[in-house]
Amino acid sequence: MKKPRHILTLADLSSAEIERIFSIAEDLKAKWAKGIREPLLPGRVMALLFEKPSLRTRVSFEAGMIHLGGVALFLGEEAGFGRRESVADFARVLSQYVDVIVARTYQHQTVVDLAQYAACPVINGLSDLAHPCQALADLFTLRELFGRLAGRTLAWIGDGNNVARSLAQGCGKLGLRLVMATPPQYRFEEAFLEELRRDTPQLDLVVTDDPVEAVREASAVYTDVWTSMGQEAEAEQRRRAFARYQVNAALMARCQKGAVFMHCLPAHRGEEVTDEVIDGPQSVVVQQAANRMHLQKGLLAWLLGAHT
Ligand code: CP
Ligand code: NVA
Repeated sequence: MKKPRHILTLADLSSAEIERIFSIAEDLKAKWAKGIREPLLPGRVMALLFEKPSLRTRVSFEAGMIHLGGVALFLGEEAGFGRRESVADFARVLSQYVDVIVARTYQHQTVVDLAQYAACPVINGLSDLAHPCQALADLFTLRELFGRLAGRTLAWIGDGNNVARSLAQGCGKLGLRLVMATPPQYRFEEAFLEELRRDTPQLDLVVTDDPVEAVREASAVYTDVWTSMGQEAEAEQRRRAFARYQVNAALMARCQKGAVFMHCLPAHRGEEVTDEVIDGPQSVVVQQAANRMHLQKGLLAWLLGAHT
């Protein structure tokens, strides 16, 4: 049997494949704007297996699959994932019923295990290591805003977390320079850096502890929560460590003209970003969230072979 293609991190996609997914997403988005919902995946079934809460990832995948003529099944607590049977048995059985699994897990190893035993593709819908669909949608948004991305700079302010790791991989593949302002103890781990260098040796990555330095040449300034889901016990310590890393009007004033503000959402307003910035004219956070659906429709059509 042919081994299924899994998207667990952006190391699983080449630059050319990302471009292909973007072009399908662009086409589907333009059709959707005209009221056309091309049923490319009739009768196809997607399972959404979530260990953590979600608004954007869950609803954008569900709505997108419905637009494509397929069906989405949300499997929450009651499926007993991780409690009633082994991950291997769960994956082997679930993948007999569905065509694709989107999984949101605490540990990245769990999506790796699901993928190892599933007979259908597994897409990572966020793990502690990575959030590939978010980064793809964000790069797609930047493409809409700026056209060609190669040579532009993305500034990351804050935690070197799941979203940051996926953006780093995506920046490497699409030729963006990534400048990260991150406290030393929250930077990328050596193991991830090694993988990043191996997969995208061309990535221009600069790391600093000065947010002003980081945003100076940026076309986009991106931040995320200081405390991700599952890290709640560290919230106080993190608030202290990231206090200097807030994206506020004073920091945005240090950017180039035309720079945009990005956030994957949900935001902790008043911590990593102020209301003034996230609700201000430079903010593209709603466009990013909207593009989750369009991008993932492109990804599903590509991955399930319905769009050539
Ligand atoms: N950005 C994102 O993944 O949001 P959710 O946690 O609501 O899915
Ligand atoms: N870094 C955040 C992203 C949420 C979409 C988290 O993991 O909670």
